[in-house]
Amino acid sequence: MTDSTPGGSGDQDQGRPLQVVLPIFRTYWFRLTLGLLALVAVDFLQLIIPLFVKTAVDELAAGTATSPQLLKLSLAVCLVAIFVAVLRFIWRYLIIGFSRILEKKLRDRLFAHVLRMDQPFFERYTVGDLMARSGNDMATVQMACGMGLVAAADALVMSTAALGFMLAIDVKLTLIALLPMPLLAICTRVLSGRLHHRFNLVQEQFSLLTEFARTTLVSVRLIKGYALERFQEGRFQVLGEQYVRGNLRVAVIQGLLFPIATLVGNIGMLLILYYGGTLVIEGRLTIGSFVAFISYLYMLIWPMMAIGWVANLVQRGMTSLRRVQHLLEQQPVVDTGPTLPLPSTPATTYSCRGLHFTYPSATQPALSDITLDIGPGILGVTGRTGSGKSTLCKLLLRLYPVADGTLFFRGQDVNHLAQADIRNCLAYVGQEPVVFAETIERNIALGRPEATKEEIEAAARAAAIDADIRAFTDGYQTVIGERGVQLSGGQRQRLALARALLCDRPMLIIDDALSAIDVETEQQVLQGILSLFQKKTVLLVSHRINVLRHADRIVLIDAGRIVGQGNHEALLHHSFYRAMTEKQQGDA
Ligand SMILES: Nc1ncnc2c1ncn2[C@@H]1O[C@H](COP(=O)(O)OP(=O)(O)OP(=O)(O)O)[C@@H](O)[C@H]1O
Ligand SMILES: [Mg+2]
Repeated sequence: MTDSTPGGSGDQDQGRPLQVVLPIFRTYWFRLTLGLLALVAVDFLQLIIPLFVKTAVDELAAGTATSPQLLKLSLAVCLVAIFVAVLRFIWRYLIIGFSRILEKKLRDRLFAHVLRMDQPFFERYTVGDLMARSGNDMATVQMACGMGLVAAADALVMSTAALGFMLAIDVKLTLIALLPMPLLAICTRVLSGRLHHRFNLVQEQFSLLTEFARTTLVSVRLIKGYALERFQEGRFQVLGEQYVRGNLRVAVIQGLLFPIATLVGNIGMLLILYYGGTLVIEGRLTIGSFVAFISYLYMLIWPMMAIGWVANLVQRGMTSLRRVQHLLEQQPVVDTGPTLPLPSTPATTYSCRGLHFTYPSATQPALSDITLDIGPGILGVTGRTGSGKSTLCKLLLRLYPVADGTLFFRGQDVNHLAQADIRNCLAYVGQEPVVFAETIERNIALGRPEATKEEIEAAARAAAIDADIRAFTDGYQTVIGERGVQLSGGQRQRLALARALLCDRPMLIIDDALSAIDVETEQQVLQGILSLFQKKTVLLVSHRINVLRHADRIVLIDAGRIVGQGNHEALLHHSFYRAMTEKQQGDA
């Protein structure tokens, strides 16, 4: 994904992203040290092998080599190779394992943090953005802390040691061999930077492709309805082609990287062959040392490439870490400061006093100057679409911050109460009911997982969905969702209602959640609610006169303001309400 984020530069000015991962490093220091020790041991063992080769070659050249001696040397090389294999396994397991643990801890922390955030946060960060941060960014951090760490340590040890051995053989020869190395480091740095960039693009293209496939498949009925198969197919092909092109661009760089490295390495070899060869001819260098020297030179090529690669990995890891840290630093704005205990004996459940509200992304207020007492009893809320009814419900649910002294729960300013305490007193059925791909039973018991079978069935009966559920083959154990039973709009609404009723909280908020239910069932549902909430508080948002009639008092909202209040008869003076009534009676 791109590095641009909502809030723009905010991500870049953060101080110390490392603070996020350091505690995890500290916790696992023993494992890391052990892993790094194994890594260093592997490097040294690998450096020993050329020494054996040198001895063998020198003996051979001098004509003093014997078969048992050569056998002994080969066995020694074998033994070292076995050690190397075992130790390699150990460091891989320890260090790469560590990076996976780190990734998991960071992802868990991010997930928990995001879940604690409030609605304004979720309007600033899209789901796609959050997914990118918990997916790609975590993977980059993991790479930097795993392979990045390994490569850095490895390159450092290998290059220093190989250099040491080379210097011990011949100083001037070493300097000559090193001449092309900076070129190699620069080439890999530039190329791997390009590689990362192109690779990111490919990843973005891939997520576009999968997202397109996902949305197409999820809305397959809509697509068939509009006969869009051909169109979607074409679009999918285009996205697929972009993905392939992106991958080819990656392949170009990958194809360049290793040949260039070998080329540069071979330039060094050319110089060594010429100058080193001369030294051998002149008798200033043994053939064995010459062969060993060449082996060390090959060992230097990898660290030189690694330096460029690691620099990019670390850079990318830091960028990702900064993006993650930025999220971790966000705090909810709804719950602020210390809170008071919840007052227990309410005169009124909720009251608004001159409540104003503007959505973070909007310029016009969605609610203005709302002064209203809610409950105990049933309060109906109506008004044209977009007038602010759902907004009012969301404020009562404490999803958005409100100004001090404008919203009171049981007489106490909500800003002095814990959001969780208030929410525990509320049951809510939203305008677009959410069902999970779970059994119906678990869907209903969402707010009270410990509820008994009887209680769940009673709630379902009150919401008039019991009969529908029993009609399914598996009854309450029926799984809803993509691969299970699909519910109708009205069934979903009643299921959500049963879920709220089961919670048995002091206040129930129903945001236009009976709209898809037929008139007869609607009355049955309302009876269920009324009997359960006799002395409690119910906020009933609806466009239906037959529903609103059950309310003790009805509030009429228009363009974010209360324009009328009273019982059904009183509100008939308002043209909008009267027109709505006449229309619905006419329809009936
Ligand atoms: N998250 C949001 N960000 C910005 N504006 C919003 C947001 N949600 C709603 N609005 C705007 O606030 C106004 C009130 O919306 P609201 O959802 O409260 O209307 P409503 O009365 O519930 O309408 P309906 O009867 O259609 O459900 C609308 O103009 C809407 O466009
Ligand atoms: Mg609404």
